[in-house]
Amino acid sequence: MTLLLLLPIIIFLLHNLIYKPLTSPLSSLPGPLYTKFTSLVLKYHELRANRTRWIHALHVRYGPVVRIAPNEVSFASREGVKEIYCSGGSGFDKSGWYDLFKIYGRRTMFTFLKKDDHAKRKRILADRYANSNVMRQAPLSGIIERADRVVKRCAESLDGSLDLYICLHSYAYDCVTHHLFHPYGTDSLRNKQDEEIMREITFDDSLQNRQLSYYSPTLHKAISKILYICGIKPRETPLADKFILDTAAKTDAAPFTLLDRLHSVRLGNSNGDGEHGGKDSKIAQIDQLDIAAELLDHMVAGIDTTGDALCFLMWELSQPRSRQIQTKLREELLSHPSSDINFDKLPYLDAVVMEGLRCFPAIPMSLPRIVPRGGKTIDGYFLPEGTTASCQAYSMHRIDMEAWGPDPDAFRPERWFEEKGDAARKKLFFAFANGARGCIGKHLALAEMKILLREVYSKFTTVPDKTMTEEDMEMEDQLISTRPAGLKCLLKFEPIGGQ
Ligand SMILES: *[C@@H]1O[C@H](CO)[C@@H](O)[C@H](O)[C@H]1NC(C)=O
Repeated sequence: MTLLLLLPIIIFLLHNLIYKPLTSPLSSLPGPLYTKFTSLVLKYHELRANRTRWIHALHVRYGPVVRIAPNEVSFASREGVKEIYCSGGSGFDKSGWYDLFKIYGRRTMFTFLKKDDHAKRKRILADRYANSNVMRQAPLSGIIERADRVVKRCAESLDGSLDLYICLHSYAYDCVTHHLFHPYGTDSLRNKQDEEIMREITFDDSLQNRQLSYYSPTLHKAISKILYICGIKPRETPLADKFILDTAAKTDAAPFTLLDRLHSVRLGNSNGDGEHGGKDSKIAQIDQLDIAAELLDHMVAGIDTTGDALCFLMWELSQPRSRQIQTKLREELLSHPSSDINFDKLPYLDAVVMEGLRCFPAIPMSLPRIVPRGGKTIDGYFLPEGTTASCQAYSMHRIDMEAWGPDPDAFRPERWFEEKGDAARKKLFFAFANGARGCIGKHLALAEMKILLREVYSKFTTVPDKTMTEEDMEMEDQLISTRPAGLKCLLKFEPIGGQ
């Protein structure tokens, strides 16, 4: 009798837990057996801030296509990136995971899930990030000024060491706020109050809290007080919020800034902005809160990314194994006058930056997308609609033998000059993602990195401080970016030519 009652339940369980996973189209994909049945292992590694490394280990074992959960697949292939991020211009729509990044309840260019919404907003903002706008005198001189302030900090540190982790985050913060708000940019390299805002954004420990709010909103709500007491706090940035809300209200920012652009759109005023101007009023209605949300997004996106990428890169350049690379870089820099800002004449600097971004991409982890209606076949595997598909830069930059050769883990800028694999490398490079939803701040970030490296390495050699360990510089996942586990990076600076 009891058995009869239980039978439907048993059948239901067998069907859902065993039959469905085993017959799902994803069950034929490479990947560990347990990923057919459960996403718990993936979630466990996410909570341990180890998602990127775990997925990479799976790619090393199973190849460029791997199932990481019953409904989720990771790709590390040229076809994967082309289909997921570039098909139809901007690839598949974003997954609900991006809801975690909504600001003031608003969606921004970064958090719109649908490609049309994204395209409309991007049309308004894109020209401020175009290389031709970034490389103009006014925006560039602000970056150079800030790089000089870093050099000053280096020079002051000669008796001891300098914590580059802090210094480079300040630099990135001051540079991005310059580009967004000038003359209302920050000066956190010299001003403690501004540094506080940078610290509030950078020393954030909301990873576990935010993951829980995504996976189980009800549970998250129910135990949020307990979490808080245990130190698992939500993201809170009151100082940055105040700074943004105050600054977003300014209507007299410099013409090259994003703030200027947003206000001219809000006012339906083309402001001499060329061909797109007249269409502004139709392509977007934005209000003051949209402006603030968009600006906070861009500001935050510009700090940890550039800051951490530079930090990992300079750490690597300072290692004894990289001494020749540092020397070669310096020789190139010293053979060109620093008044000449033409980066085309500095190919080795470019290779060093590319190799830095390859080995230590600021956003090494998966950027999840949803397979559209009707499903898609990628790399010969059919993914039903609704499957989460993604690439992660960390693996994109290491897995493909033709592109990266036998030494993908070595920091070797010279690989960027090799003809063999050149096309493959360009297709796989994913430090700024790819397609229309790729990083809009790419040119700004590259300019910041190159200017800083040029200023520092034409004046100093760098070596690690003796108190630093390998563990301090282990990659630690955050919600979207990565950072050195020790949250510090002490280097010693020696002026070139002694004294
Ligand atoms: C992170 O993942 C890698 C690869 O699966 C594993 O070897 C390592 O032990 C993990 N680390 C932690 C802290 O879980």
